[in-house]
Amino acid sequence: MTAPDRTTVAIVGGGPAGLMLAHLLRARGVDSVVLESRPRERVESRQRAGILEHGTVDALREVGADARMVESGMPHDGFAFHVHGERIHVDMQALTGRHVMIWAQTEVVKDLVALRLEQGEPLLFSAEVLAVDKVDGPLSRDGEALVRYRYDGAEHELRADVVVGVDGFHGVARRAIPDDAVRTYERVYPFSWLGILADAPPSSDELVYARHERGFALLSMRSPSVTRAYIQVPNDTDPSSWSDEAIWDELEVRTALGDGSFRLNRGPVTDKSVTPMRSFVAEPMRHGRLFLAGDAAHIVPPTGAKGLNLAVADVRVLAGAISSWVADGSQELLDAYSDTALRRVWRGEHFSWTMTTMLHRDPDADPFDDQLALSHLRLVAQSEAYRTAIAENYRGVPLGM
Ligand code: DHB
Repeated sequence: MTAPDRTTVAIVGGGPAGLMLAHLLRARGVDSVVLESRPRERVESRQRAGILEHGTVDALREVGADARMVESGMPHDGFAFHVHGERIHVDMQALTGRHVMIWAQTEVVKDLVALRLEQGEPLLFSAEVLAVDKVDGPLSRDGEALVRYRYDGAEHELRADVVVGVDGFHGVARRAIPDDAVRTYERVYPFSWLGILADAPPSSDELVYARHERGFALLSMRSPSVTRAYIQVPNDTDPSSWSDEAIWDELEVRTALGDGSFRLNRGPVTDKSVTPMRSFVAEPMRHGRLFLAGDAAHIVPPTGAKGLNLAVADVRVLAGAISSWVADGSQELLDAYSDTALRRVWRGEHFSWTMTTMLHRDPDADPFDDQLALSHLRLVAQSEAYRTAIAENYRGVPLGM
């Protein structure tokens, strides 16, 4: 693909948020260029979460990237907590009238990439963004913002009306904002997740989130024959220090039910990795002609699978705002973007923090925290109102909330 030098929207980052934004903009008649620093194979093979809120499913349907999801995704009406051997069932469909879809982020990305290339629209892989420049100042249609990037052995400049930074937590876009123009909030957790993919049928029809004396465990899935599972481990754990057998043993202990009724299916482990846990928010999510979305602006710990869903919610709001400005020059929605997106971001931050602190055990923490978490879980078991609140957050709150 030749290196483009002018567009309306320069999208820095070709993960799910950047790709989804490009598609939503195209559907509204707005042209964009997507620059992704990694090669296509890397983008398409990264293992991430696998739960789509109904709003994310709707967005995939809207842009026409839903065929494989409809065919192979697994709608889930509920999930279970296993707390020190006791089962609490959350019937999301009954409590909220909505379900979620199990469909891996990796697969979402593959479909969004394939569709973009099929359309012949600009999407450059291995295009390393060196700098985002000239984003200070008012909005204009004169291509005043500048993205410098290296592609195919040469340096290039892309002029754009607006730049959207969707290049993740470590990306260059957020760094284009002066330190005194952004406020950050952060929490780092004293544990990580060791995750596996395994050729084993899921051990139950629904996901199991377990809290045990020895820590958190999660049983998820990718298909009727593939299990995805996680256990809480100390930070800086080397995944190769855990044998497959030891991981299965730990999953079995942590997810067991007191009456012995829960059986864990084991199988060959095909992937093993460690994920650190962090909460982070940068606000505002805009500086002049630069807009941030997804992990470039906020990170959630994985418990509850909100990361991808928050990113897609950001770009749904942003696509509407940019296209309204392009159509008739009205800046109202773009001016409101950061506040609108942040309300939902903080809802996701609170929910992910709640799920994380309620289900994990920090062996060095004040025992007071353990008692609070256990009391919270008892309340969830006893109160339909609490289960409803959890279910509403899990399946996804409305866009503007
Ligand atoms: C998965 C990840 C999560 O963080 C979660 O809460 C549920 C499922 C997953 O990877 O399947």
